[in-house]
Amino acid sequence: MKVYVTRPVFDETIERLKREVDVELNSEERILSKKELIDRLRDKDGALTLLTDAVDLEVLQSAPRLKVVANFAVGFNNVEIDSATGLGVAVTNTPGVLTETTADFAWTLLMAAARRVAEADKFARAGKFKSWGPKMFLGHDIYGKTLGLIGLGRIGQAVARRASGFNMRVVFHDTEAIPERVVDELGVTRLPLDELLKISDFISLHVPLFPETQHLLNDRTFALMKPNCIVINTSRGPVVDEKALVRAVKDRKIAGAGLDVFEREPEIDPELFEIENVVLAPHIASASHETRLKMCTMAADNLLAVLKGQRPPNLVNPEVWDHRRHD
Ligand code: GLV
Repeated sequence: MKVYVTRPVFDETIERLKREVDVELNSEERILSKKELIDRLRDKDGALTLLTDAVDLEVLQSAPRLKVVANFAVGFNNVEIDSATGLGVAVTNTPGVLTETTADFAWTLLMAAARRVAEADKFARAGKFKSWGPKMFLGHDIYGKTLGLIGLGRIGQAVARRASGFNMRVVFHDTEAIPERVVDELGVTRLPLDELLKISDFISLHVPLFPETQHLLNDRTFALMKPNCIVINTSRGPVVDEKALVRAVKDRKIAGAGLDVFEREPEIDPELFEIENVVLAPHIASASHETRLKMCTMAADNLLAVLKGQRPPNLVNPEVWDHRRHD
């Protein structure tokens, strides 16, 4: 069996894969072009992909032996799932292992944006700190405020748990049913989206990217928010209309934002660079040593399981299993 790994990952994982299959690796830290991806997957049985690899129908059709796309991410919007299912290719992801790390980072951005940490750091480094000032870098209190969570899945729930230490009121919106027990344990209140937007001091996004969640935050929804509201996005960039966000922050319709993801990653709208009260990060919410290794190990486990004919632990398209590709 031959597998392709689309970017340098952890040596431990490569060694482990090599014990069981032939491994070919893109050793460069860059995204492969579509043509390169097609060329390299042509004779492979499995692929360990990143969220930056667009695995579409053309790529899948060009790889007639491919049985599994093991995505090194919990999100899988980079893979055309219906096409994979239609062609009998199993797709897997890495849920669970990055929940707490990502929730930590949503809070990192929330606090950094509320207390203007990025701006203050730049100021201090520039040698501009000449005296303590009563009105220097005034930010927003977090303690006792209202946190609105859009999406109360694994990560949304982990973000909610952390809010209790800040004595926050937590409200949420989700189109999925959330078990009563979870809602009670977290002490959170379900609200229609517009209600949540109107009362929240902080809004954090925890939905996957689907056609229904694309541009969930847009000119209309920003207009409903409080002027002191800070928006945090650690989900997927296209959930927010980035131009509308720029307008909302510039026009002071909201107070700021903390963004780990962008609409056209790795491109960042240059207008965002000019706005001081927006904290920017290069898609690193799950980037702790421990968590990234766990994600990588999980992706390899999923990949090897399929190649051994076993149902992988994190199959995204279970419908595929009965008509999956075999040799
Ligand atoms: C990161 O964004 C992931 O989906 O794992």
